[in-house]
Amino acid sequence: MDIKKVISEMTLEEKCSLLSGSDFWHTQPVDRLGVKACMVSDGPHGLRKQDQTGDHLGINDSIKAVCYPTACATAASFDRDLVYALGEGIGDACQHEELSVVLGPAVNIKRSPLCGRNFEYFSEDPYLAAELSVSHISGVQSRNVGTSIKHFAANSQEHRRMSSDARVDERTLREIYFPAFEQAVKRAQPWTVMCSYNKINGTYASENPWLLTKVLRDEWGFKGYVVSDWGAVSDRVAGVAAGLDLEMPSSNGVNDRRVVEAVRAGRLDEKLVDQAVERILTINQRYLSNAAPSTPWDKDAQHEQARQMAAECMVLLKNEDNVLPLKEGESLAVIGKFAVQPRFQGGGSSHINSHRITSLMDALEGVSGVTYAQGYDIKTEEPDEALIAEAVAAARNADKAVIVAGLPDSFESEGYDRKHMRMPNCQVELIRRVAEANPNTIVVLYNGSPVEMPWIGCVKAVIEGYLGGQAVGGATCDVLYGRVNPCGRLPESFPIKLEDNPSYLSYGGEGNVAVYTEGVFVGYRYYDKKKMDVLFPFGYGLSYTSFEYSNLRLSAEKIKDTDTLTVTVDVTNTGSLAGKEVVQLYVGDKESEVFRPVRELKGFEKIALNPGETKTVSFTLEKRAFAYWNTTIHDWYVESGDFTIEIGRSSRDIVLVKDVYVEGTTQLPRAYTVDSIFMDLMKDEKAMAMLKPMMEGSAHVTEESNTTEAADEAITKEMAEAMMMYNPLRMAVNFGGNISYDELAALVEQINKG
Ligand code: BGC
Repeated sequence: MDIKKVISEMTLEEKCSLLSGSDFWHTQPVDRLGVKACMVSDGPHGLRKQDQTGDHLGINDSIKAVCYPTACATAASFDRDLVYALGEGIGDACQHEELSVVLGPAVNIKRSPLCGRNFEYFSEDPYLAAELSVSHISGVQSRNVGTSIKHFAANSQEHRRMSSDARVDERTLREIYFPAFEQAVKRAQPWTVMCSYNKINGTYASENPWLLTKVLRDEWGFKGYVVSDWGAVSDRVAGVAAGLDLEMPSSNGVNDRRVVEAVRAGRLDEKLVDQAVERILTINQRYLSNAAPSTPWDKDAQHEQARQMAAECMVLLKNEDNVLPLKEGESLAVIGKFAVQPRFQGGGSSHINSHRITSLMDALEGVSGVTYAQGYDIKTEEPDEALIAEAVAAARNADKAVIVAGLPDSFESEGYDRKHMRMPNCQVELIRRVAEANPNTIVVLYNGSPVEMPWIGCVKAVIEGYLGGQAVGGATCDVLYGRVNPCGRLPESFPIKLEDNPSYLSYGGEGNVAVYTEGVFVGYRYYDKKKMDVLFPFGYGLSYTSFEYSNLRLSAEKIKDTDTLTVTVDVTNTGSLAGKEVVQLYVGDKESEVFRPVRELKGFEKIALNPGETKTVSFTLEKRAFAYWNTTIHDWYVESGDFTIEIGRSSRDIVLVKDVYVEGTTQLPRAYTVDSIFMDLMKDEKAMAMLKPMMEGSAHVTEESNTTEAADEAITKEMAEAMMMYNPLRMAVNFGGNISYDELAALVEQINKG
């Protein structure tokens, strides 16, 4: 189809009708011109294709599909290939089901453990979220169907989700909340981007030209169409002008008419309408010309794949006395409702009608010596004495007890935030009592975001299983018995208590205003800077084997920010089992003019090692690894100086460190005035050279003067130096520099010109 020609043959009404959906899930057709409708659907960890009556909250049933592990779990894999493969599986399903776009991945940053949708998001860390976004999108789109990376941007709370205004400073947006979108656009070109419900610094994402056009298209080079989150449109005309191409779902023609009127009244350029239509039709055409409904969708095979993936995502948090892996022949008390009815996905638009579910008890079928006790009720928080007594008795009679616990559906979901980080009382009480009855108690958790663990000292082992998809029970069994050596790492910090979290004082906001007060200090960036104890740090996870690191090498001791730095390190499996390690690379600026985190993740690699085997892992660092977002030049900027290159097992377990000197090659514009202080000019060699003649005449301003003993007591050398540094240039005029005010002003202007 010649899209431009077809658009030129459309009436204004027809064009405007294309700017919103025809119903909940379809774009608008124009039969007269052979323009076909395309279907989109949720997303992100499987298909939620609703055939009949659509809704965006997962209330009405959708087709049977495969629920892969959710993003909170796949992020813990730290495995780009795994996430890519998951994308491929979803892409095949889309082709089979004739979907042009699957709505995801959801990549918002986990600002607080309270966000109801954390289970759908990857991480508190922008680098990890970015890498996995790229993999997910590339995987899906390798099947010639599109993705819709969401929710752009700063959508890190559910509270007042359609009216909240995220007030985030420029640097924080660029360093924390944008990179997952930025990297995805630059490296994977998602076919579509979904704008978020919320406002950003006062303007709805859906009508924000800076966000949707300047940043997304002009800076990052986005080529697809921007779709609104379902119902995110307030002023449709402003949206078209800002770069929102498709409104979803249908506005029943109301907004289409508004756009027609705006064009007729000269308030909106028709070219912008044409542009939006062209973008939508281009993406639709890309799908239609590659549609392959005969693509097989083998759900059982995907179920098996989902099991393998879920096992690779599990994080072993504690394993005292090597109580895990379980040994064949040990008698086992399996306790907890989640052992027969696993919680494996979250509620809302991502909810999948799973074609099959495997619980831990299903996976243990036929294994002798296994007893089951329910332990708690998922409908209430109240401990049930009878259920606990039954569980305690089962635990007492078994070699080991495995409690499957976590968060019930009502504790976290799309649509609202959590109020606290606690597990239900009935589970906490159960864990304590079972642990008293059996010293070999193991807890498996199914939850979408961190929980407080006041019981952690009572149990021998803990596995964080997150929300592991429909095959989670099989995966749990594989990890418990060591058929899969656990290799997940936490993609977020687990604070000891909610109050420790950096967003605690402002999360959720006051009324509709949510100020992101902690700035760039999200997650471990805050805990590490404050040297605060956490329950489990970012990047943490154990294995049934052990790894040693050695021989950290840098390709240079000194580089320019236009060069790359190669970092290599050797990792050896020193235990007796094959296993996988996640090698993490953090960079820290040792001294900086701006507040910077102690360390930031800038590389990771997951490697498989047999016992005794050594592999060399190599990373390439570019300017971005050292840069911060400078708000004077509105760009990435490297400040010259020493940086630490740290290799760690987690953000708190750094095993090898080396320094590199990086020379920044960008000169910040000189914008001195007579009020600029000496301290700021002293770092600028050129400026100091130009100031020299003036300073030589001004002892008061620049040098220590001869003082009496009494004066020495009143004014220490440190104080004199400090006062001198903080003096504005104009002091040179007042205090005897051989320069007049006008001469100084002229000199400053000359310095600014360089
Ligand atoms: C959610 C999106 C989802 C859309 C369609 C919205 O409520 O925020 O993530 O893709 O509904 O179901």
